[in-house]
Amino acid sequence: MSKPSILVARAVFPQIVDRLAQHFEVETNPSDEVWDKAGLIARLQGKVGAFTTGSERIDAEVLAACPQLKIVANMAVGYNNFDVAAMTAAGVLGTNAPDVLTETTADFGFALLMATARRITESEHFLRAGKWNKWAYDMFSGCEVHGSTLGILGMGRIGQGVAKRGAHGFGMNVIYHNRSRLTPELEAECQARYVSKEELLRSADHLVLVLPYTPASHHAIGAAELAQMKPTATLINIARGGIVDDAALAQALRERRIAAAGLDVFEGEPQVHPELLTVPNVVLTPHIASATVGTRLAMANLAADNLVGFLTQGKPLTPLNPQVLAR
Ligand code: DGY
Repeated sequence: MSKPSILVARAVFPQIVDRLAQHFEVETNPSDEVWDKAGLIARLQGKVGAFTTGSERIDAEVLAACPQLKIVANMAVGYNNFDVAAMTAAGVLGTNAPDVLTETTADFGFALLMATARRITESEHFLRAGKWNKWAYDMFSGCEVHGSTLGILGMGRIGQGVAKRGAHGFGMNVIYHNRSRLTPELEAECQARYVSKEELLRSADHLVLVLPYTPASHHAIGAAELAQMKPTATLINIARGGIVDDAALAQALRERRIAAAGLDVFEGEPQVHPELLTVPNVVLTPHIASATVGTRLAMANLAADNLVGFLTQGKPLTPLNPQVLAR
């Protein structure tokens, strides 16, 4: 009997492709091109499953053009590249890759906070450019981290990981805002206090964004919100581009209306707003918060487990729309 066919839409660890090939006919993307919609649809013809990353948009048009598709497994915890309602309507299962990246991503959130507050990349560029000819008392003075107020917008698993690092490691006063409040037990574990979004913006010395991107969180941080922040505050985005209005942020940074920002995600990435590339008080990284070898392998394995579990036994590990399974 011939094996079912699947598409692995981006380059991934060879051992993951080998694993999938034990169960499926696998078409890969050896040049790791990011296909446009027509290119993706063309490659999905005849495929019952797809292994995707955040760069493949699965919407009603793609689903209508690929009627054999049964599952799309995202190698990411975020799934804003999926139109989950359209997938459910089409009877296509979506899966994501939660939990395995929580601690690594929280580590990176803290690394970005530290680099931003202590001006690490800005001062390194200065040194590499041969501009360091004497020590000076005020050279690259940054913002205090220990004992300061850490604000977290979005208090899921990664937000909680950032909170624990701040509270337990750096003696920070942690405040958070989220759609729903944590249980008293979790608040105690994170040493975090629930506040309104207004109080969060007003009080945070470092504001870390860890909320999912949805129509409701589009530009959750825009000019009006930036205006409420302290002029000495930093803003860290490890969530998704589009949550911050990048043009408004670039202007606020240029006018020093906040001290600095650290951004791992961007509106329209991999394009970056040109103004952000010219302001000095921002640390920019290319969406690498979960990028350690071990974590990326665990994410890829979980996406593969979802494909194998669903297509061979009807049992995915981390379904996003489990109602599809009941049909
Ligand atoms: C995720 O898992 O959502 C990360 O942002 C990587 O895409």
